[in-house]
Amino acid sequence: MNLAGRDLVTIDDLSNEEIESVFTLADEMSDSIGGQFGVCQGKVMASLFFEPSTRTRLSFEAAMNRLGGRVISVVEMSNTSLAKGESIADMARVVGSYADIIVIRHLWEGAARVVADYSDVPVINAGDGGHEHPTQTLCDLYTLKKERKTLEGLKIALWGDLKYGRTVHSLAYALARFGATIHFRPSPGLEMPEHVTRKLATEYTGRLEKYDGPRALDEKGLFPLDAIYMTPSGPHQLANIPAVGLEIELEKGVDALYVTRVQKERLGPESRLSKKGYPVVDRKLLREKGFEETMVMHPLPRVDELAYEMDADPRSMYFKQAARGLPIRMALVSLILGAREAHILQTKKPIFARKVSYPAYTRDTGIRCPNRVCVSSQETESRYIRPEFLIVSTDPLILRCAYCEHEIRPRYIASSKWHQGTAENKRYYAAKGSMISRINPDNIIIFDSESAAQEQGFKPGRRLVETGAQEGEKP
Ligand code: NCD
Repeated sequence: MNLAGRDLVTIDDLSNEEIESVFTLADEMSDSIGGQFGVCQGKVMASLFFEPSTRTRLSFEAAMNRLGGRVISVVEMSNTSLAKGESIADMARVVGSYADIIVIRHLWEGAARVVADYSDVPVINAGDGGHEHPTQTLCDLYTLKKERKTLEGLKIALWGDLKYGRTVHSLAYALARFGATIHFRPSPGLEMPEHVTRKLATEYTGRLEKYDGPRALDEKGLFPLDAIYMTPSGPHQLANIPAVGLEIELEKGVDALYVTRVQKERLGPESRLSKKGYPVVDRKLLREKGFEETMVMHPLPRVDELAYEMDADPRSMYFKQAARGLPIRMALVSLILGAREAHILQTKKPIFARKVSYPAYTRDTGIRCPNRVCVSSQETESRYIRPEFLIVSTDPLILRCAYCEHEIRPRYIASSKWHQGTAENKRYYAAKGSMISRINPDNIIIFDSESAAQEQGFKPGRRLVETGAQEGEKP
């Protein structure tokens, strides 16, 4: 295993051992930041930030400068040919011919993947809309590891805007992989998106319990707990009594409270909701029992959700998290550029991820990603991006966009095997019940409406015609 030449688009692009190897090198480099000059001499980093950034951009650029490499950068879309209608694929090809590595932040979800697909050099995702922010997760995990000496068995509460906050999505996957217990404490209306909780529940080995209890703030001024993800190795007294169990669990405190701001630049209809009831993490809250040892973490920037009076509190970690961005990004960049070798320790530590491989759906039958900020939904990009989905569930039928991971539940299906090119046999059925289980994923044809099916020459299956029933029938 070697990190040279690799892309980092999602945190799952790195194994647990590879993450630890980045930390080992970051430790070594932070002991002598000034001694790293020359490690990446002669290399050029393209730093493309099409969304505001202070920490991420400057720590990447500082990292490259301290490694002795050079940086070329763009900080506004309006200064590039993207403003003239150029696609990010064309931009990626061109920038990849000028630089040895590309770091990109973009407001479109899935943009980093497209840049990685089209450029010839490694690409690091520095945040793609509300999707993922894997290098922030490296800083967060590194801080947890430094402060707690281990990543296994930690209990972390994710707090605030879990819907649009990209940092908490990447962090949740990583914590699950290291066997942590995660408490979800969203501001009401800003719960973790379903595609994230489904991924946690199906691709990692822990258990996800949803909590449907009262939604008012509790007496400690905490958000109501929305769900809990439990590491498989932890003691579970929660088995059959989730609601009661969750409260017991809460009384025991957490290792870290990971606070996030409202991502107001991404809010949709929730903007009204989120204004009220976004409680502040302050000294009073942290005086509560159970928080004596709790670290306060935040990816920053903070707005109103984290009181300045916390800054002097030894439990506050957010400036350390930001400062650690430098050695982490120095280590990452030098590993990806092949300027340093990764020392991967093969350990016998348990793996908390499952190997799942979902069938892909790539037929163009009119299914489009519903996410308006998905890269595949953009006018400039839809000229060349072919919609691509993973079939993550068949009952009910759920497709996951391969770019932004948002989900879609199409309602109609057909099988290419059944119609065998014969117009008379081209029938579509409701995507429900036994019908779908009879179709081999390679043969499935999916439509999101009856009109889409009919436009493509399919007629309703017998049951749909006779009863209008939402149920499949035998072909
Ligand atoms: C975060 C981001 O950009 O997603 N900031 C960061 O990179 N440290 C968090 C945020 O903007 O709220």
